[in-house]
Amino acid sequence: MMPFSYVSHLYCPKCKKEYSPKEKHQLCECGSPLLVAYDLERLKDNLSPEDVKSREPNLWRYHELLPVEDPKNVISLGEGMTPLIKMPKLGKEMDIPNLYMKDEGIIPTGSFKARGAAVGVSKAKELGVEQLAMPTNGNAGAAWSLYSSRADIKATVVMPKDAPVITRNECAVAGADLYLVDGLISDAGKIVGEAIKAWGLYDASTLKEPYRIEGKKTMGLEIAEQFSWNLPDVILYPTGGGVGLIGIYKALNELKELGWIKGDLPRLVAVQAENCAPIVKAWNERKQESEFWPDSSTIAFGINVPKAIGDFLVLEAVYNTNGCAIAVDEDKIVEEQKKVAQLEGSFICPEGAATFLAARRLREEGWIKENETVVALNTGLGVKYPNTVDIEVPILERNGSLTKK
Ligand SMILES: Cc1ncc(COP(=O)(O)O)c(C=O)c1O
Ligand SMILES: [Zn+2]
Repeated sequence: MMPFSYVSHLYCPKCKKEYSPKEKHQLCECGSPLLVAYDLERLKDNLSPEDVKSREPNLWRYHELLPVEDPKNVISLGEGMTPLIKMPKLGKEMDIPNLYMKDEGIIPTGSFKARGAAVGVSKAKELGVEQLAMPTNGNAGAAWSLYSSRADIKATVVMPKDAPVITRNECAVAGADLYLVDGLISDAGKIVGEAIKAWGLYDASTLKEPYRIEGKKTMGLEIAEQFSWNLPDVILYPTGGGVGLIGIYKALNELKELGWIKGDLPRLVAVQAENCAPIVKAWNERKQESEFWPDSSTIAFGINVPKAIGDFLVLEAVYNTNGCAIAVDEDKIVEEQKKVAQLEGSFICPEGAATFLAARRLREEGWIKENETVVALNTGLGVKYPNTVDIEVPILERNGSLTKK
């Protein structure tokens, strides 16, 4: 019988130590995140792109490349296979005629964090986890709270008090144990870390459990499938912890090993904001790791991460694909968000707007060529951040009238 998952083991990208996926593991003994390996040699003989084609349009269509071994443990709200949309008017304006948006707003919980939560929570359930804890910039906490309640797992979440307000409500309505901290995600991380140590909770922090990245990896699988296994030239990703970028890179390498894609991988671009750009600084200095970015701030709240635990993996993905890292102007993000809505009818999140702004800059600099196919990731709904739009609307008297424009 074909196994549901072809997961083989966990491995450390730093010291190469291996672990079993049948036990709970967090970081490697050496402190590095662990990654999931699959038996791709065997899978190659048993699965083809044709087999996947007729499956349900959600991320579990790639279950062989996901870590959940028993389908009974799948916790799903129908996440995945989000739209890949051509952006003709915006593309024309930016001189990138083949500009696309992968729209992660169209997914349960309104952000791509649903992918990591679906796979991470499903695997936690499979491993017998009853209680988990995590720091978050909002969207991940919301997604993990909601998926955890569906899985009967208790979630404890700590987020900065400045995180998007709606994400608090999502955690609260799901019944999570929620705390706000007067600080950044790094401060939330320290507080959660102490509770985890004291109470023996499962640590669901970014890259401290190996499975969230497997969920996010499906963005890469979907982009490849949606382009009929002919890859775009450039993929831009708003990078905080960088899990999505690491995941896309991992997905593309797995597809290459399976022989489903050929040729050079797309150039991966890590997009950050000018006041929180540790990965960009490291890339400019050709370093393998980043340094803590003090006093970081940006309206694109999800990418306000001053030091990412997986920074070396993000940088590796960027270097190995001849990609780049770019910091965008803070005061142009909202302007770009407005342009996308006015030209293309999509109200995207500020993190997504940062990726379009980066595409615009890279085209101006000639790093992106006119004929190249470019995919910008919109990681969430603009609707989740109502305060980024500052408007004055006329209020009419009951018997008022309109002014012709
Ligand atoms: C909307 C949005 N975009 C991007 C990110 C950054 O994600 P990653 O940790 O994969 O870099 C986040 C993280 O909170 C987010 O909420
Ligand atoms: Zn190690």
